[in-house]
Parts: sequence; C-alpha cells; structure tokens
Amino acid sequence: MLKVHRDDPRPLWQQLLDQAIDHIHNGVWKPGELLTPTRELAQQLGVSRSTIQIVYNELLTRGYTVTSGRNGTRVHDWIQSPDKSAPLVHPPQIPEPPSLLEQSQQWFRSKDHQESMIDFSPYQPYIDTQLLQTWRKSYLKASAQLDVSSWFYGDAYGFEPLRRQIQRHLSLERGIHVHTNQILLTSGAQHSIDLITQTLLTKGDIVTVEDPGYPVAWMTMKYRQMKIAPIPVDEQGLVVEKVPSEAKLILVTPAHQCAVGVMLSEPRRQQLLHKAAQQRAWIVEDDYDSEFRYRGDPVLTLFSQLPQNCLYLMSFSKLTMPGIRISAIIGPAEAIAQLARVQAFTYRHLPIMEQATLAHFMEHGYFMRHMRRARNIYRRRHEMIQKAIAASGLGNKFTVRGIETGLHVLLEADESFDEDTMTFRAFQSGVRVHQLHSYCLESKRKGWVLGFAKVDEKLIVEGMDRLAETVL
Ligand SMILES: Cc1ncc(COP(=O)(O)O)c(C=O)c1O
Repeated sequence: MLKVHRDDPRPLWQQLLDQAIDHIHNGVWKPGELLTPTRELAQQLGVSRSTIQIVYNELLTRGYTVTSGRNGTRVHDWIQSPDKSAPLVHPPQIPEPPSLLEQSQQWFRSKDHQESMIDFSPYQPYIDTQLLQTWRKSYLKASAQLDVSSWFYGDAYGFEPLRRQIQRHLSLERGIHVHTNQILLTSGAQHSIDLITQTLLTKGDIVTVEDPGYPVAWMTMKYRQMKIAPIPVDEQGLVVEKVPSEAKLILVTPAHQCAVGVMLSEPRRQQLLHKAAQQRAWIVEDDYDSEFRYRGDPVLTLFSQLPQNCLYLMSFSKLTMPGIRISAIIGPAEAIAQLARVQAFTYRHLPIMEQATLAHFMEHGYFMRHMRRARNIYRRRHEMIQKAIAASGLGNKFTVRGIETGLHVLLEADESFDEDTMTFRAFQSGVRVHQLHSYCLESKRKGWVLGFAKVDEKLIVEGMDRLAETVL
C-alpha cells in the first residue's frame, strides 16, 4: 500500500512514484499483479485522481507496468524479484596493464614538479606572471571576437587563423614555407606521433628512434604495435648507417638531440635524407626547442631540404606553456589531409578557446615579446650553468654536452657511474636531476640531463655545488 507523507518536501506524485518503484523492485508488487484502479487508489489516499494518473503513466513509460485497456494496469511480467543472495556485481574486466604503461607512468611521474627541490627538470619552461597576464588578455579578447559559428564543430585541421599565424612564424623563424593545408594542429607531440602512427603506418612496421632518445615517442609507437629499432647516437647525432633498410619511419631530433643534446652533423643529414628518399621512409623531425639557440645561425630543418619525406613536429610546450597542449604537424598536403581525416573521427579537433587565444597571442605580438624575454632569461641561465659546472669541479668528472641549443645540457659520465645511487643522494641533498638511463632503450650511456629553464641563476650555482658535493 502506498502512503502519503504530508511533511515530505517532494511533490505528491514524486513520493508515490518512488514508493511504487520500490515496491516493484522489492517484490511487494509481484510481476503480473493488477494495480488498484486510479479512482479507488485516489480515494484511499485522499489525493486527486490526476496525481495517481501521473504516477501510473510514469510507471508505464518507464516500462514497470503494462496496460491492456479495460483489464487495467499490471506489473510487467519480466520484472524479477531481486535475488538478494546473488547481487549484480559483475563489472567488465579491465585487461592487465602492459608493462609499457607502468614504464610510462614512471616517466610521467618524473615530470612532476616538487616545490621544495632545486628541480633541473628538462620539461618545464620559464613561466611567470607576465606571461600569464598577457595570455589572460588574449583569452578575453579572443573570446569576445569569436562569433556563434565558431562554437559549432570546427575544422579537423585546426582553427584557420591559428594555422595562418603558425605558417607565418615557421616562414620567418624556421625557413619553412608551406600552405595552411600543410599544417595540422594537434594536442602535443605525443598526440602528433600517435596520429602519424595510426594513419601512416601499419601494425608491425619497423620504426627507428634515437637511443638515447625521447621515451614518449617510442612508448607511443610501441603501444600501437610498431617494431621499435633503437639507433645509437654519437657526437654527430644519429648513426644513420645503422637504420635498417626496411624502416618505414625514422624519428629524429636533429637540431638538439633530445637527451644527448648534439646537433645532427651535415654529413649525417645528407646520409639521412638520401636514405629516407631511397627507401621511401618518413622522417619525423621533432623540432621541440631549436628556437633557443645560443651560438651561430638557426639550424636548417630537414623538412626544408626534403619536404616530401618529412613530417615536421612543432610544439608550443617549450615556446609558451605545456599546459596549453597545442602543437602542429607540418608535412606534404596529401599526408596532412589523410591525418586530418583520421583526426576528424578519432579526436575531431582541439578546443576552440585555446586555439583562438594562441592565435590572438601570436597575431598581436605577445608571443614574440615573450620569446624575446624568455631567450634573454635562458641565455643568462645557460651561461650560468656552464660556469657553475666548471667552478664546482663537475666538469672534471663529467663531459658536458649539448650546450649550443635548447633548455637542457647533459653531464655525461663513464659507464661505471652509479646513476641510481648518485641520483638518490642528489635528491636527498634537495636537488632533482634526470638520469640519462631513463632515455635509453639499449644504450648503456650514463649521466644526468639538466634542464635549466625554470631555475634562477642563484639556485643554479647552489644546485651545481650540491651535485659536486654528492659525486666528487
Ligand atoms: C623531445 C621532445 N619532443 C617534444 C616535446 C613536446 O612535447 P609536448 O608537445 O607533448 O608537450 C618535448 C617536451 O619536453 C620533448 O622533450
């Protein structure tokens, strides 16, 4: 029997409906049982007949009851009384995580920032309140400029005004002259590599990566079931002659090798370009930090030398802030069209607001202003870390590499260096450094990768002194 509770704040029909559903679930009203006619129930409860009609209609609409005209309304036959002894607890099984996922978790944890440490993270650029203020300004302005049509589903290639800004930037800063249909916007280098792998390769293809190199790249491609061939890196960069002739994709960081920091030498570039053309392979050129160059002219891109075989990756993570998650793939128009098709049905496109903000930020000169400021800061920190390495004596124990470009340097040790113990001791002394080992697949090279972008000069000196105390 239903009951009316006058102090219940819910509307009458709602409380009666909830009770009726409970009765059906708990088997108080049995499958097939005839419900009390509306008029009679209304009288019994002292409520209007229309209230009961609302309750009965709702039960019918939700499938709890069936009606057969004059024969009245009955509880649906298939509604089983719940068997309390066998509760429904059979969630779908989640497959065992591949060990690769565990490995990648460790890698990403190493990217976490800890306030209390002098943290030489190679991933974190310089971010300050001035950058945030101009970003906020662009955000507000861009949001006011967007019209209604911008808020529908957009172009899988990405927001056209932003692609125009990137086109201009690449032409002025990197000597890359392309049409906007050769630019596809993605959400970070990982996304770019994943999309390329899904679209332009087939399961089991051989892909080569630098060893030491960018772990995220090989983890992503391995996850997509590519065969990873690690290729050593020496003072001239990738050892191109070791790239197998069956390789379908060769991933390189030619301007500033991801871990070791060397630049790909001219002979190796020529060798690589010929090899890629000969075996019809893709070169994926990850150009993640070459805008920060401390001596000499900007490094020529592989893309500008062999555009039909190259997919050039740029990312705004180091140029602005990694949190905005905006990057781009630049390549031949047909390849980009194919990537855009896959992007359309897998991810659709990047969120409009971040794209519009970055477009405004670039168009109104804030981006170049930030770059000039960041370059000055990085130049000072870069000089300071070299001096501090020399002054602390670390230069006698390690070989310093990769100092021409970018936001990190390598302190390379010999193979007997006990990286784990030394890194832990450094950590205990309040200094966080990244082990070269974590960038290696087969390579046994040892040392520390030191990012200096967000450590101020005073702390750089202190950090190097503490490292020297740890290892010397
Ligand atoms: C080698 C390399 N490539 C690309 C990137 C940019 O990655 P994302 O665009 O996913 O932030 C980084 C960032 O640290 C990097 O180290």
